[in-house]
Amino acid sequence: MVLFNVSGVETTPFDGQKPGTSGLRKKVKVFKQPNYLENFVQSTFNALTPQKVRGATLVVSGDGRYFSKDAIQIIIKMAAGNGVRRVWVGQNGLLSTPAVSAVIRERVGVDGSRATGAFILTASHNPGGPNEDFGIKYNMENGGPAPEGITDEIYENTKAIKEYLTADLPDVDITAIGVTSFGGPDGQFDVEVFDSASDYVKLMRSIFDFESIQKLLSSPKFTFCYDALHGVAGAYAKRIFVEELGAQESSLMNCVPKEDFGGGHPDPNLTYAKELVARMGLGKSNSEVEPPEFGAAADGDADRNMILGKRFFVTPSDSVSIIAANAVEAIPYFSAGLKGVARSMPTSSGLDIVAKNLNLKFFEVPTGWKFFGNLMDAGLCSICGEESFGTGSDHIREKDGIWAVLAWLSILAFKNKENLGGGELVTVEDIVRNHWATYGRHYYTRYDYENVDAGAAKELMAYLVKLQSSLAEVNEIVSGIRSDVSKVVHADEFEYKDPIDGSISKHQGIRYLFEDGSRLVFRLSGTGSEGATIRLYIEQYEKDPSKTGRDSQDALAPLVAVALGLSKMQEFTGRSAPTVIT
Ligand code: G6P
Ligand code: ZN
Repeated sequence: MVLFNVSGVETTPFDGQKPGTSGLRKKVKVFKQPNYLENFVQSTFNALTPQKVRGATLVVSGDGRYFSKDAIQIIIKMAAGNGVRRVWVGQNGLLSTPAVSAVIRERVGVDGSRATGAFILTASHNPGGPNEDFGIKYNMENGGPAPEGITDEIYENTKAIKEYLTADLPDVDITAIGVTSFGGPDGQFDVEVFDSASDYVKLMRSIFDFESIQKLLSSPKFTFCYDALHGVAGAYAKRIFVEELGAQESSLMNCVPKEDFGGGHPDPNLTYAKELVARMGLGKSNSEVEPPEFGAAADGDADRNMILGKRFFVTPSDSVSIIAANAVEAIPYFSAGLKGVARSMPTSSGLDIVAKNLNLKFFEVPTGWKFFGNLMDAGLCSICGEESFGTGSDHIREKDGIWAVLAWLSILAFKNKENLGGGELVTVEDIVRNHWATYGRHYYTRYDYENVDAGAAKELMAYLVKLQSSLAEVNEIVSGIRSDVSKVVHADEFEYKDPIDGSISKHQGIRYLFEDGSRLVFRLSGTGSEGATIRLYIEQYEKDPSKTGRDSQDALAPLVAVALGLSKMQEFTGRSAPTVIT
């Protein structure tokens, strides 16, 4: 057994190591500065109670983006230096964010050990490569992201750090499955490399009826494709969709994980998932090759999802509503009923209506998956979702891109039980249109202004808050822009009191609520790594079934005009158009 020594290395603080919505994300060149990653990791160890460090088992892995392999070796050495007993690493350092959550909650190590936390190495949907982003976040023993109390403490520690602990271990081979043991001042230290997919696949099999999905996927009437955008989802897609469920290998697109995501932007939306969007025939009334019936994509770390039908886009807000409305019938895990449902504030109010109709507990939380965790731990929420292409359930404490695809395939399998032999297939589009006919439709769009000057973005937000003090003035501006838009009846900044721990989160987005149920929400992104990103969320409710079939950009045009005029978007940002529309 190789022996190692532990030593303290002197260091000085770096500015700006405050974790955002989902961990610390910076350009690779920032992370590569000597001691930058080390300071953050040590600050995290110091923010945890000693039992979560000394003698503990921790997971270290991520989406495989550039710099991950170096980071994993650094963290292994620091874990040994801090008295951690075992580090678990997915083979080649790959684990999707949902798989990490599953591994913390479900996995038992070769020696019977269980993990109490994880360093996840990802910048999610941000591009990767030497000139792009890297990221790191810490997840707790429930499998969910560290709560604000911990991330605040990490940040405080980064401002005062003087020393970090590390061990003089050799690099560990993370390409081969197996355990490598070392001997240190506190005794044995193990690094266990394990198959990235097995635990996750097992969990999925326990939630869904794989047999019925397999019947659907093997039916010649149903065609399928999945785009991992060269993210870590590729490590799961082949195992689940092809090997377990019998999809054709040719249905997988960009399913080889790459350090730079093939130079692309691994964000599953209509702008960045171009290849999939084209294959699904969106924006074309006919095409030479008939598009598949179902298509989906994931982001870099596979927690996000985009669901498409043939020539048809399912908004993430509709997706969570539809999954919630059909889960009990179509997904065995939910057959005993749903404990409750939840959405983030900017997500459309479609889920509210499903909750009301089905008499379910309902929660509206700030943006960020961590807010769902407390509700789930308290047994109050089964299914939740966000407009930002996140959908999931209480099977883990992260959103789950592949779970969302399996949920949709389950619904399709259920609706088509009788039709696979003969009869007309119920399509993704049919399911969505039927949902609108039953519950009404929330026309919805999001405008993103990326990499705006941070000062200008702040001024715009401050202006919108100030405006809220006089609704009369707001309504005068609104009616001056469009006379066909209803009146603003309430305006505020969203604030959330967690019903479980009583913690209060302020300034979670600026809301303008209209008499007819329409909403405008303005928020600054918490996940960017440069400048500021302004997000504008626009929503309008239509109950009349004869009016739910319009093009959403047409239907929303009046509200969009009001939003842009009211916020003086162009004046503040200099932008005449958003970077991305979803
Ligand atoms: C991450 C979180 C999501 C959240 C999203 C918001 O993906 O995991 O829960 O919705 O960030 O990002 P934003 O850029 O809008 O702050
Ligand atoms: Zn992600």
